[in-house]
Amino acid sequence: MNLKIALLAGDGIGPEVTNEAVNVLNTVAAAGGHTFTYTSLLIGGAAIDAHGTPLPEETLKETLASDAAFLGAVGDNKFNSLPPSERPEAGLLKIRAELGGFANLRPATAYKALADNSPLRPEITEGVDILFVRELLGGLYFGQPRAWDKTTDRAHNTMVYTRHEVERVAKIAFDIAAKRDKKKVTSVDKANVLECSQLWRAVVTEVAKDYPTVTLEHQLVDSMAIHLMNRPRDFDVVLTENLFGDILSDESGVITGSLGMLPSATLGGKVNLYEPVHGSAPDIAGQGKANPIGAILTAALVLRHSAGLNAEAKIIEDAVVKVLEAGYRTTDIARGDIAGQQTVSTSKMGQLV
Ligand code: NAI
Ligand code: MG
Repeated sequence: MNLKIALLAGDGIGPEVTNEAVNVLNTVAAAGGHTFTYTSLLIGGAAIDAHGTPLPEETLKETLASDAAFLGAVGDNKFNSLPPSERPEAGLLKIRAELGGFANLRPATAYKALADNSPLRPEITEGVDILFVRELLGGLYFGQPRAWDKTTDRAHNTMVYTRHEVERVAKIAFDIAAKRDKKKVTSVDKANVLECSQLWRAVVTEVAKDYPTVTLEHQLVDSMAIHLMNRPRDFDVVLTENLFGDILSDESGVITGSLGMLPSATLGGKVNLYEPVHGSAPDIAGQGKANPIGAILTAALVLRHSAGLNAEAKIIEDAVVKVLEAGYRTTDIARGDIAGQQTVSTSKMGQLV
């Protein structure tokens, strides 16, 4: 198969981890006779340096003409004095909005080899494999009106959802759940207090009727925060609105043990956007210390969701497990007090996978 991928490597460790993800994709392409072509495009601080804007026209145009967009990370301390609208991060927010993806997939996986990196007991995390499906373009983050009136010091944001917005993200969650082993969707809301959540719950319940093989349960967001830490194994696909998903998926990073391990994919827009969850990590940039596994697992999501290469995606995910079980660690997941571990660089970790 042919796949045209826009590469938005960005700043800091972005290019370092993107490089390893591309090497892994190329290995898959060579083994399977696929043709993956890449267009390297500027975004974030790198684009400000070259063109004075964090999202040049050319980057947007080329990305929209691609089959998939892979983003490393953006951000650099040297832009800290700029207003939000001129900073590298503005380029990322703009491209997310322009691409229009509304379903943000964030897996939270417990790796047996990293059980000691989580503050949760291994008997609680063992086997955890949760997929968050977070609505990304609605709710409090985008609702109008919004303002901070500095004269009265009164501020407000608006939570808005429409049936259409809930329906389209719920369908993605159920489609995915129907193909997974547990076939379960946990829909998170605050339907005992919020009208938006009552609409959410009603629409999700209706969508569920089209998926007889999938079990649906509803959880209130506050108790869900506790269940995730007490009994994470009970969850499979977790469907949430924008704010609740932001909080709960970050909380679930505890299960995996490092930010550098987490991939994400945003589906449903003109072009799917794939990015590791972490930022540009200026504190370790250029030192070969970045963990490329989040980016490599993101490459697996490209194969699964933009190329239909499910077996190949699984091979990458299994390779990550093998490398961890063999004791290889980047600095962020190394535990000096545990025998049998070897600390390796970004590129060595990429080669091993
Ligand atoms: P960060 O995710 O860049 O780093 C947080 C901490 O985790 C740092 O100590 C870093 O060294 C570590 N870390 C992150 N990724 C790692 C990896 N792959 N391997 C090993 N260690 C890793 O978040 P921070 O420090 O809050 O932000 C730094 C810059 O990144 C800022 O400019 C911020 O705005 C930007 N940012 C960009 C994002 C994106 O492009 N999607 C997301 C989050 C932050
Ligand atoms: Mg967050």
